[in-house]
Amino acid sequence: MGGDNKYNGRTMKEAHQLLNLDNMHFNVIKNHLMETTKESKIPLSIVNDVGRVLETFCGDIVSRHYSLYEIVGGDRNLIITMNQTLTAC
Ligand code: HEM
Repeated sequence: MGGDNKYNGRTMKEAHQLLNLDNMHFNVIKNHLMETTKESKIPLSIVNDVGRVLETFCGDIVSRHYSLYEIVGGDRNLIITMNQTLTAC
């Protein structure tokens, strides 16, 4: 974000790729960091900048992606969803 601190740690991918993190893990941490930033009375425009920067890490931190089957929740939910979709009115 333009500060002069130099980050000397591992890349976000190196630090997180073996942790099997999904979108929910990422959003919990991102929201927590955003809330903490808000509480410190930092101007909203900066809080939003922080949010945008954090969002750029998502692809390097999240390594667990779900199939549509898993998102729906297995056979039973898939059948219910298909029935609802295919049944007119
Ligand atoms: C915006 C999101 C995140 C940021 C900016 C972030 C940032 C960092 C940083 C800077 C490190 C240290 C890297 C190093 O020098 O070794 C780290 C390590 C770590 N992070 Fe995150 N992190 C994020 C999300 C998460 C999430 C969602 C989890 C788990 C729920 C997590 C768990 C860990 C763990 C366990 C380590 C230590 C890994 C190790 O030592 O092998 N992080 N993170």
